[in-house]
Amino acid sequence: MNFDTIIPRKGSGSIKWDRRPELDPFWVADMDFASPDCVLDAVRERIDHGVFGYANAHDGINEAITGYFAKRHGLTVPTGQIVHLGGLVVALSLIARAFLAKGEALMTCTPIYPPFLGVAHDAQAETIAVPHVNVDGKFTFDWDAMEQAVTDKTRVFLLCNPQNPLGRSFFKEEIIKVAEFCQRHDLVLVSDEIHCDLVFNEDVQPFFSALHLPENLRQKLIVLQAPSKTYNVAGLGYAFAVIENDSTRRKFNQAKGHTLPEINSIAFYTAEAAYRDGEPWRQELLAYLKKNRDTITDFVRNEMPYLSIPNIEATYLAWIDCSALGLDNPAVYLEKEAGLYLSDGAYFSSPQHIRFNYGCPHSRVLEGLAKIKAAFDKIKP
Ligand SMILES: Cc1ncc(COP(=O)(O)O)c(C=O)c1O
Repeated sequence: MNFDTIIPRKGSGSIKWDRRPELDPFWVADMDFASPDCVLDAVRERIDHGVFGYANAHDGINEAITGYFAKRHGLTVPTGQIVHLGGLVVALSLIARAFLAKGEALMTCTPIYPPFLGVAHDAQAETIAVPHVNVDGKFTFDWDAMEQAVTDKTRVFLLCNPQNPLGRSFFKEEIIKVAEFCQRHDLVLVSDEIHCDLVFNEDVQPFFSALHLPENLRQKLIVLQAPSKTYNVAGLGYAFAVIENDSTRRKFNQAKGHTLPEINSIAFYTAEAAYRDGEPWRQELLAYLKKNRDTITDFVRNEMPYLSIPNIEATYLAWIDCSALGLDNPAVYLEKEAGLYLSDGAYFSSPQHIRFNYGCPHSRVLEGLAKIKAAFDKIKP
């Protein structure tokens, strides 16, 4: 796979490219790369079949997912614990409706992927947002602040691991501590692990899935996963939950009511192909993204030292602190001054930050960085 190839996306019905076509987009989390051949072949096979009636979760998807957990995470996940879904945010909303009543609350830590901050509304419930803290250059949990903020009406904790937008892949010890916090306060622990196959340097620190928690900490655990970020198939609409506890799974499923459309066969078959045959492509992707990550980290630190960027352990998203510039809104400034479309930190509950999506050809990363520098250098402190 040649990740350097520029595939024109403007006019292809892409949110990223067509929402603000006048801007150069580095915002929403999808990549500018074609999906692996195994995924494209799965789409072609479905098209050649020609019939698109209601789809069933066929054996192949369940086998591919259980095989993925066995090979990639060393875990045995029984098929009966897998709940297939048309997207991951859907699951966050179902969780809010299943486990929160009016006036109750969910807790999460910020900055965070924006829907985490919005889904409590679906249940007329509250969101308790506790900022992550930077300890010696690494963002982690503010354990004291979490203890102070939790209330007897709090029912759910939403964890994002790897963390979007901070790029952390949390240590085993941190995940255990989160789970103990949840157990102490009787919270459903939801672990969104959608970015877990985009972790760098796993030879040093392998990804720790919440499914690896000891049994006593897994009783109210929901793990959410999808092939969409890694294999760039977000537009096909597929995700799944792993819910070990029968009563938790039942409650989750009951919240669906009649609100969800059927999952389509292209989504099922492409997910199967990605999990079964996508690993060599994923390895190439990781090597490429790592180069982009190093470029952006070095560039920000050397060329724009007035900004700050944490070490990125996972994801293709760079979280950049622009507060030293004193701008009201750095993302809006970059739209006007540089014609760039980056994610605005305010939506993640951290104004003065921008999120740069480097899941694109290296040449585009360089162009984007040069435009940011030209715009920010005009006002640098
Ligand atoms: C942490 C996280 N969860 C969920 C999603 C979206 O999942 P879906 O498109 O399946 O709703 C994203 C997309 O960026 C994400 O970063």
